[in-house]
Amino acid sequence: MKIRKVFENFTPYEWEISSQEVAKIANIPVEQVIRLDTNASPYKPRSWLNEVAKILPELQVNQYPDTKYSELLDGICSYNNVGEDNVVVTNGADEGIDIVTKTFVDNGDKVIISTPTYSMLKISSQIAGAKVLEVPRKAPGFRDDIEEIVNVCCREKANVIFFCNPNNPTGNFTDIENLRIVAEETDAWIVVDEAYYEYCGKTAANLISKYPNLVIIRTLSKAFSLAGARIGYILANEDTVKKLNLVRPPNSLTVVSIKLGTIALSDINQMRKWVDEIVEERERLFRLLNSMKNVEAYPSETNFLLFRIKGLDANTVHEKLFRKGICVRNLSGVRGIENCLRVTIGTREQNEKFLNELKNIVEV
Ligand SMILES: Cc1ncc(COP(=O)(O)O)c(C=O)c1O
Repeated sequence: MKIRKVFENFTPYEWEISSQEVAKIANIPVEQVIRLDTNASPYKPRSWLNEVAKILPELQVNQYPDTKYSELLDGICSYNNVGEDNVVVTNGADEGIDIVTKTFVDNGDKVIISTPTYSMLKISSQIAGAKVLEVPRKAPGFRDDIEEIVNVCCREKANVIFFCNPNNPTGNFTDIENLRIVAEETDAWIVVDEAYYEYCGKTAANLISKYPNLVIIRTLSKAFSLAGARIGYILANEDTVKKLNLVRPPNSLTVVSIKLGTIALSDINQMRKWVDEIVEERERLFRLLNSMKNVEAYPSETNFLLFRIKGLDANTVHEKLFRKGICVRNLSGVRGIENCLRVTIGTREQNEKFLNELKNIVEV
């Protein structure tokens, strides 16, 4: 018995530890654990959940969902001002990435990513059978090396180029004009993961009608506070959507998620209020981190900040925060962002606790 060769030399997704386990290690009640490591929203969408609760007894969970996800699809179309034929509804952005790689990548095809970036772009591509080519980001500001990406794509005849915009974990944004250049100068699929779109308000989505090779991946996990509901979507031109629908599974969203997503998309103002609060907190944290001894934070257009620890081992800082029940992402071993940690913007109270503990650790 064997499994596929691709897994012989493969780094899987690093699963986050559960809050229950953190609580045990930190010796605190689970409610006191502060999760600033997954880039999820700190706000629970109570009014949306209450609306779903009212209709819960009527939901037809004995039946499969409407495979077209009609209600949710309507909401996505009006939010993005596109037609039904431009959308593929997915179980989170991760399924979007999975569908894209399964549709576009043949065994041995080349896929380009701009590193460091969201790990699932590489993982899904490899699982689909791709050879992943990594183009390192450039200083200052972790910029995508557009010239090199175009060169590598033409030389290696790559079939897919992934962009993560704004990028996780560096937080920076690549000008849409750069993406347009790549879409024009290459024959590859240009796939843009816009999971953090709402925090920067800039998108390549309005280029899909002009560039049939452009694909946008979005999610309701971040700005819409619905990470646990697993809702995402892909935007692309009509022909591309037809191709992606060859792969899309029929029932990957639950009837409960469809309702929640539909309600969320009918309440855009609520989402915008949360985004405004997070952006304000992000800027405050950015200033305070940079005023700390031994810390350098990088500008961000997302709901998280990447920061470098100076003169101390970031692993130790991570561990000390962890022992206090504060989880941040340890990226200290990632090439290009050595000795860095990533913190998700939480509520004012959570951020204050994080800042105080960090200060105690780094300003020794
Ligand atoms: C860039 C990026 N894309 C996709 C995802 C996954 O999103 P979803 O929860 O919609 O699967 C994440 C989650 O952190 C992300 O950072």
